[in-house]
This record gives sequence, structure tokens and C-alpha cells, in this order.
Amino acid sequence: MKILLLGSGGREHALAWKIAQSPKIEKLYIAPGNAGTSNAGENVSIKADDFESIKAFVIENNINMVVVGPEDPLVKGVYDFFKNDASLKDIPVIGPSKAGAVLEGSKEFAKGFMQRHHIPTAGYKTITADNLEEGYAFLETLEAPYVLKADGLCAGKGVLILPTLEEAKKELKEMLGGMFGNASATVVIEEFLSGIECSVFVLTDGKNYKILPEAKDYKRIGEGDKGLNTGGMGSVSPVPFATKEWMQKVEDRIIRPTVEGLAEEGIDYKGFIFFGLINVKGEPMVIEYNVRMGDPETESVMLRIKSDLVELFEGVAAGNLNEKTLVIDERAAVCVMLVSGGYPEHYDKGYAINGLDTIENSIVFHAGTAMKDGQVVTNGGRVIAVSSYGANKEEALAQSFEGAKKIQFEKKYFRSDIGFDL
Ligand code: AMP
Ligand code: GLY
Repeated sequence: MKILLLGSGGREHALAWKIAQSPKIEKLYIAPGNAGTSNAGENVSIKADDFESIKAFVIENNINMVVVGPEDPLVKGVYDFFKNDASLKDIPVIGPSKAGAVLEGSKEFAKGFMQRHHIPTAGYKTITADNLEEGYAFLETLEAPYVLKADGLCAGKGVLILPTLEEAKKELKEMLGGMFGNASATVVIEEFLSGIECSVFVLTDGKNYKILPEAKDYKRIGEGDKGLNTGGMGSVSPVPFATKEWMQKVEDRIIRPTVEGLAEEGIDYKGFIFFGLINVKGEPMVIEYNVRMGDPETESVMLRIKSDLVELFEGVAAGNLNEKTLVIDERAAVCVMLVSGGYPEHYDKGYAINGLDTIENSIVFHAGTAMKDGQVVTNGGRVIAVSSYGANKEEALAQSFEGAKKIQFEKKYFRSDIGFDL
């Protein structure tokens, strides 16, 4: 079978690594991929949202399945593009329809969906420039800190958490005035939830689902979870507080109602659902939905899936996921992200990366790299994910930190406290 995987980050390298292990794979292409994905398949120089070029490539190369890594092509409707095209309609796309991708593409839709299906989440109110005064009044009913979310996609930057009412009102007005362009023309004001976060993933065919290993990611740039938010500095799986009992609550109160809710609303959904959860005094609540795998969670979650991922994807496509098995590795898996100095603010690219071939006991996933004159160079803020197994997270982390020290590039930085709070 020939698969085309869309995307270019660490998540896609981890997916490519896992897909390439399947005995069913004849050929794996990654569009556009990075310097690392070319070790798992063949990179194709097509952007993940260039649907016409994807179509031409899929037809010319007899691709049998398309797997979508990032949210952007999903929100732009890549699934529907295939469904509605006479020559592509029989080629399965692993990822939701445009209507399903709205779970991530619009915070307002996601909150309404959770309300309709009685899924536990923070109280909220939706505000536009037309009801700004109602926004101020709602803020006054809440306690500090205040959570403001741009309705649309903002590359992970659309959430503000403000310590005072005064700042919250000021920022609300600025968001509605175009702080994030059109994405913040509508703002969701939310009640602040206090607790520890956990990412839970399912793969669904729209009716059946499999719960993948959960993970915790570390979003802040600084040790001790201080400083600016990043795309993610590392991840750990399993998560100790996600006990059997807790995960049962997650399944009963969140996962099943979500999958059933999508079906009830007639939303075509064949792909991953990422539940961003928070544990509030032992009770799981939803912070957000994403319609794809998490990054850098995928760089630890893929290590823990023993089963053939391509076979699971076939179940998603055929609607018989219930007949497939998902076997999970009991070991811990972690990932430590090496980033460019200065990230998530200004940083430089193009530095040579050395020492990649000295890593023996970890799996190196490329996040932001490129090949230049035969040399792997830095090409993003997040550069390399060093993933490892261990009998427990301490062992796995020790392994990843050892690898993180051996890989060299100018201004390299990583957090050496991943997993510190668990
Ligand atoms: P999101 O983009 O929705 O995942 O939000 C980014 C981050 O903001 C989350 O990972 C949480 O750490 C935090 N956050 C979002 N919503 C809330 C909330 N209602 N209460 C507390 N923290 C939140
Ligand atoms: N790790 C969070 C995300 O992928 O959005």
C-alpha cells in the first residue's frame, strides 16, 4: 500500500516512523516532510494545503491512503476535497471532514458542542464587538485569573490568561479590534479551571474508537513551567494521575459523548481526536479539542503503540475499527525537544546539527530541520525531539537527556525538567 502523509514537523516524523514499520507499506511519501522524514519515506515538495498539487501527485503515484498530520489542511477541507472529487473519492483520508475540523477551528463551536452533549468544560460566554458590554459584565461575574480565547486558529497563540479584571477588559477590547486578525473577531470568555493537564487521543471511524496512550506536554519555554508558551518542549507517557478509574470517567463523560455527538450531528469524522483535558480535583474537564495528534505528544505516544498503525487506519477508513486490536507498550516513553536559542521569540535558522549519528538508545525525530549541501541544519524554533523508552519515566528521561546533550547546534536549548511535576 502507498501512503501519502501531509505535514513537516516532529509529529509527522513520528507518524512516518510508525507507519514505515507496517508490513503493509510498499511506499510512504511525506509532503513536504523535513530532513528526518526522508529516513522513513520519500519527501515530496508539496505544501500540505496545496490541494491541487496533492491531487495530481496522488493520481500519478497511485496513492492508496492520505494521512493528515496538521490541522490546517483539515480546517481547509482536504477530506471534503477528496470526497467530492470523482477521481479521488475512493482514496481514504485519515482526518475529519471540514465540519468536524471546526471542533478545533472554532472555539465557539467547540464550546457549543460540549454544551449540547453535556460534556464537562469551563463555563463561558461568546462575545463580538456588538456585545462588548455583555463581555465586561460576564468578566465581572468571574474570579481572577481571566481566560480569553480567540475563536479561530492562531497557531497556538490565541489564548490569553490575565491576572486582573482591568487587563482582561482591555485585552478583550483589543482582541475584538483585531489583535489576531479575523480569528479574534469573536472571543470566548471562559471560567478559569485550576488543575493539571493531560492530553488524551482517540482514533475513530465515526462510530467506533480506540483510546491511544495519554501524554502530558510541557508548553512553557522555561524550567518549572515559567515563561512564554511554545509549541511544546517535551512530553511524557503514561501520565500517573490518568489512572484506570480516571480514564473511565474520561471515556464515559467525554470520549463517548463526543463521538456519539459528532454522529448525531451528522458530522463525518474519521481520524484522530485530541482531548486537551484538565484534572480538576479528580474530575476530568475539557480545555480544548484538536482534530489531529498533539505535538510533541505524538513523539512519545507513537513509541507506545505496538500494533500496526496502518491496520488501524484501514479500520478507520472501512468503518470497522472495532475489529482491529490496539496493543499498548507497558513501558514509559518520553520526548525532550531541542529548540533554537531565542525561541519562541526571535531565533536564527541554518545552523549545522551534529552528533545525530551518535544517538544509540533514543529515537531522534526531526521537528524543524532541513538538508543543505548534504548537512542537516536547523530550520525552525523546535528543531529535534529526542524520544526514549524506559521501565519508568525517570529511566526514559535520563536516556533522552543524554541524547539531548550529544546533539550539537549553535544556541541549542532544552528543558532538563520535563516530567518534573508528575
Ligand atoms: P488552548 O489553546 O485552548 O489549549 O489553551 C492554551 C492553554 O491555556 C491550555 O493548555 C491551558 O494551559 C490554558 N487554558 C485554556 N483554557 C483554560 C481554562 N479555562 N482554565 C485554565 N487554563 C486554561
Ligand atoms: N501539544 C499541544 C498541541 O499539539 O496543540
